[in-house]
Amino acid sequence: MEMKRLTVAVLAATLLPAAAMAGDVEVLHWWTSGGEAKSAAELKKMMTAKGHTWKDFAVAGGGGDNAMTALKTRVVSGNPPTAAQIKGPAIQEWGAEGVLADIDAVAKAGNWDKQLPAVVSNVMKYKGKYVAAPVNVHRVNWLWVNPEAFKKAGATVPKTWPEFFVAADKLQKAGIQPIAHGGQPWQDATLFESVALGVGGADYYNKAFVKLDKATVGGATTVKVFETMAKLKTYIDKGAAGRDWNLATAMVINGKAGMQFMGDWAKGEFTAAGKVPGKDFLCVDAPGTQNAFTFNIDSMAMFQQKSPAAVKAQADLAATIMSPQFQEVFNLNKGSIPARLDTPLAKFDVCAKKSNFDMNAAAKSSKLVPSFAHKMAMPSATEGAMVDVISQFMNSSMTPKQAAERLAKASAVR
Ligand code: GAL
Repeated sequence: MEMKRLTVAVLAATLLPAAAMAGDVEVLHWWTSGGEAKSAAELKKMMTAKGHTWKDFAVAGGGGDNAMTALKTRVVSGNPPTAAQIKGPAIQEWGAEGVLADIDAVAKAGNWDKQLPAVVSNVMKYKGKYVAAPVNVHRVNWLWVNPEAFKKAGATVPKTWPEFFVAADKLQKAGIQPIAHGGQPWQDATLFESVALGVGGADYYNKAFVKLDKATVGGATTVKVFETMAKLKTYIDKGAAGRDWNLATAMVINGKAGMQFMGDWAKGEFTAAGKVPGKDFLCVDAPGTQNAFTFNIDSMAMFQQKSPAAVKAQADLAATIMSPQFQEVFNLNKGSIPARLDTPLAKFDVCAKKSNFDMNAAAKSSKLVPSFAHKMAMPSATEGAMVDVISQFMNSSMTPKQAAERLAKASAVR
C-alpha cells in the first residue's frame, strides 16, 4: 500500500513538468455555503487537473465583508493571494494601489472582448487592461417563494407591494413566517435595494445609488422606501438577528417561511437540497421590479506574483475561469448565469433562463442597474456608510424621514 502510494507520487512528480510550470494557486473567496462550496470546488477540480496545487483561502461571511478585511491584511504584508473575489469599483481601487496583475495577454488570446458584454468587461479592466476574470452574473432582485406554504395559507404570489402585504398577512395568519431574513448589514441592504427598485423604479435607483445625487437620496422616494422597509420589519422574526443568509433560505426550503428576498445564489441552496424550480420553489421578480435587473458580477482579480511558475499558474487560472466548460458547470451550481456570452444555456433551469432574458431586456430599456449591496455601484467607503444607515434603521426606531436624511449624508462619504 505504502509502496503503491510512493510510486504514484514519483510518477506524478515526473509527469508534472509536462504540465508546463505547475504552481500554487491561492484563491480568496467567501463561498462556504452548500451551493457556493460546490461551485468553488469545480474551479479547484479543473486547476488540480492541470497539475496546479489549489490553496483554498475561504473566509466565511456572506457578502464578503470578512473576506475583504482578510485580503487587506495579506496585501499590506506583501503576501497577496494569486486571485481574490473582488467586484465592481473595488477592482479600480485595488488597481490604483498598483498591486493587480495585467492579464491582458490571456484575455487577448481568449478573445475576451468578444466573449463578454461591455457592462461586464469594463468592470474587469484597469486603465484599459484586464486585471480580473468574471465568473458569472447574479441577479439580486429576486423573491424566492415556497409554493406549498402559499397554498396552505391561501395566498397568491405577489407582483406589487400591496399584493405582497396581502400575501404576507395570509402567511402570518397561517402560522408561517412571511419573510425569511438574516439581520446582517449586507442582507438588510440586499432587501433595501430591491425595495428601492420596486418602489422608486430604475431611474430613481440610478440617480440615488449610482450617481449618488444627494437630493434624490434624501428625497421623498427614499422616505417611501424606508416606510416600506418599516412595514417589512413586522414580518421578520426576532431570530433574524445575525442569521446567515443560507439559514434564511433553509427556512423557505423547509416551509417554515414563505419568502426570501435574495440574489440567485439562494437558488444554489435550493438546488443543492435537491429542490426543483417551478415545483418546490419559485423565483419571481421582487415586487414592482418586473423588467428591471440588479446585477452582481462575481470576478477574480489577479494579484502580481513573483515567481514565473506562479505567474504561469495565474494565467492558467484566468483562462480556466473564462472557459465555456467552467462557466457552465460553475453557474449550474451557483445559481447565476455565465458571464461568457457563448456559453450554452441548454442545461440551465427556468430561473436562469428568465434571468438571462430579463438581463437582455433590461439592458435595452435602461433598467439594468448595478447592485450596491453587492459592491457593484459605488466606492467602498460610500457603500459602507450607506449600508450602516440601512442596518441601523432595521435595528432601531429611527423614522423613515430621519433615515433618508442620514442616508443622504452617507452618500457623500468618499
Ligand atoms: C455575494 C456574492 C455571491 C454570494 C453572496 C453570498 O456578494 O456575489 O457570489 O456569494 O454574496 O455570500
